[in-house]
Amino acid sequence: MKQQFWHDCWDNTHIGFHQDELQPLLVEYFPSFLEPNDSRVFVPLCGKTSDLLFFADRFKVIGNELSAVACRDFFQENHLTPQVQETMSFNIYQQGNIELYQGDFFALSAEQFQPFDWIYDRAALIAFPEVMRVEYVQHIKTFIKENTRVFLLTLEFPKDEIKGPPFSISEDEVMRLFDGYKITKKAERDLTGQKFARIKLSVSKLVEKLYIISN
Ligand SMILES: C[S@@+](CC[C@H](N)C(=O)[O-])C[C@H]1O[C@@H](n2cnc3c(N)ncnc32)[C@H](O)[C@@H]1O
Repeated sequence: MKQQFWHDCWDNTHIGFHQDELQPLLVEYFPSFLEPNDSRVFVPLCGKTSDLLFFADRFKVIGNELSAVACRDFFQENHLTPQVQETMSFNIYQQGNIELYQGDFFALSAEQFQPFDWIYDRAALIAFPEVMRVEYVQHIKTFIKENTRVFLLTLEFPKDEIKGPPFSISEDEVMRLFDGYKITKKAERDLTGQKFARIKLSVSKLVEKLYIISN
């Protein structure tokens, strides 16, 4: 998936993946997984998701997003005025507990941050075709430290029925990608016949799954 594809999506408002409401599985399950000292969350490929605000109530939130349009819209639509710092590889938007690093995820180094308690992946892994998913997970693993847990949401559907993104990711693939890590499937939602965010996917079966992954 070329970066230009995503820039075009944002420039032309082809953002069917964007959810206007908070992610239901996040709201339902995340509070029960929290440990008393959890305070930092990383949201790779964050788009302009409102879930950033959900986290910001309690957490320092670091997001990463390729598109400047997405970052700008996130703050504008939520009536927030960020400070913007330009660095060599990233523009950093900061307001309150939220910092968005606008630029390429693969150029972001885990070493520039204190460890995260959580990594929140909603529509990030499923945004990439198979080969890129391996590269994405390799890079995500560099952010997984001793106490980091990954809140991973996937979609599963008969994969030949549509050309992604989104891409279907089986439980077997999650196991393979995160081989050597603790992986627990915590919940699933049958979305067959319903919308995925703003779009109705032409698939005969659609299930969203929640995994928690840790060292
Ligand atoms: C399917 S969208 C999901 C956005 C968000 N997680 C959400 O739930 O609305 C994938 C996002 O990843 C961003 N993206 C794609 N490639 C990226 C990269 N290499 N680095 C950073 N962001 C990227 C796209 O611009 C897009 O906003």
